[in-house]
Amino acid sequence: MSTESKTVRALPESYYDRFASIAAKARKPSPIRALFPLEARPNMISLLAGKPNPSTFPFESMSFTAKNPLSSQLEEFTVDPKLLAESLQYGPTAGLPGFVRWLEGLQEEEHAREREGWRVSVGTGSQDLINKALITMFDPEDVMLIESPVYATTLTVVDSLSITKIEVPTDGDGIIPSKLQIILEEWPQGKPMPKALYTIPYGGNPAGTTVPLTRRKEILALARRYDFLIIEDDPYYYLYFGTLPRPASYFSLEASESEQGTGVDSRVGRVLRFDSFSKVLSAGMRIGFVTGPAALVGRIDQHTQSANLQSSHLTHSLALALLSSWGTPGFLAHTQSVSQLYRQKRDMFENALRKYLGDEGLAVWSTPCAGMFVWFRLILTDPTSTQSSTSSPEEEDSADLIRTRAVQEGIIALPGTVFIPNGGPTPYVRASFSLLDEETTEEAMRRLRRVVLRARGREDAV
Ligand SMILES: Cc1ncc(COP(=O)(O)O)c(C=O)c1O
Repeated sequence: MSTESKTVRALPESYYDRFASIAAKARKPSPIRALFPLEARPNMISLLAGKPNPSTFPFESMSFTAKNPLSSQLEEFTVDPKLLAESLQYGPTAGLPGFVRWLEGLQEEEHAREREGWRVSVGTGSQDLINKALITMFDPEDVMLIESPVYATTLTVVDSLSITKIEVPTDGDGIIPSKLQIILEEWPQGKPMPKALYTIPYGGNPAGTTVPLTRRKEILALARRYDFLIIEDDPYYYLYFGTLPRPASYFSLEASESEQGTGVDSRVGRVLRFDSFSKVLSAGMRIGFVTGPAALVGRIDQHTQSANLQSSHLTHSLALALLSSWGTPGFLAHTQSVSQLYRQKRDMFENALRKYLGDEGLAVWSTPCAGMFVWFRLILTDPTSTQSSTSSPEEEDSADLIRTRAVQEGIIALPGTVFIPNGGPTPYVRASFSLLDEETTEEAMRRLRRVVLRARGREDAV
């Protein structure tokens, strides 16, 4: 592809001006870090940064053992000494360069993207980057479209910034495009248009939903027509275990779906994508990465420069030693085996949920095909009861039951209300099945059944 056609396809840098918050505009680049690239020039003598003298670092080598994803054999890895030295020192804000290159290669391959104006930056988990992205993009009262229910920790960021949240309804397949369309068509005159839509498209947290391809295309078309960005928070991408082919990411679709001839601007650069290695390599390594337009990623980096300078290049070097030896095929084979484990856990959990609650009409749910959550609605009122209920199913709330009575019975889960952007009652509950074995799952569902039956007035339930 020629450079010319690349520039034509991507939105220009100036497009992102209106996505910069007051704080982001006021934040200056670090005067020290901005000059880091000059240090690499041949014959340059640097008196620039307060880099500690590496001879004082006690680490001489870094080795670990890991399971080969293809053979299941244990293998020894040693971080290349030059790479180790590089990673022990301060380095580029976006991450250890070799690691960033590896990740960019992964994104190119996995999402079929050419290099038209996007880049990758690594953070201390994707949460770090989401937090920074929202701070760089939103001022108080700016508007965000946000799927409901939604990841509760994102809500803590959104609320701390006083962002106006417009809830986008979902069902068992995630965001309902027709409802999103109505919201946009009926947008009140004079109200600022949304800057972005926040969504978790695979194995959503909390609802476990994966958005089918047709819906994704409709949602992308709406983003283009109404000119907002898509914040694709995707830590469960590699935990897809559905039987149908995996639907393409928004980051992939924005390059493959053209709206030529419709008058709608379909240039790329509308998607800011967040990946995480927490669910596939290790949560404690704290590696997440953002992929998107250089203008937006640059502002996130600028925030990092004043917040924590960079994420840990040492963990980047460990990940790179592993991943460069495995290659993309090895990494994908590993993620495949991870997702299969979650599929088995999903089956195990769903069987017990059906046996103790579903079959007795105490709960309903949609089967997740990615991630680690089941989002189920408790049916707290016995439909056969002669006593008339005071609340409709929509008004029923699981919060008290889950926070108090379930805990008394020895079971903890999350009441659905914590995932509703603007709050409110909901009979839904989020359960995570990632750590459970069969016996524990059965016992958990037995206890939950007792809690629901007692809430229905069956105090003798065992
Ligand atoms: C939807 C979602 N986004 C982001 C994160 C943060 O993940 P990380 O460990 O990469 O910070 C999580 C963690 O559970 C999550 O569920």
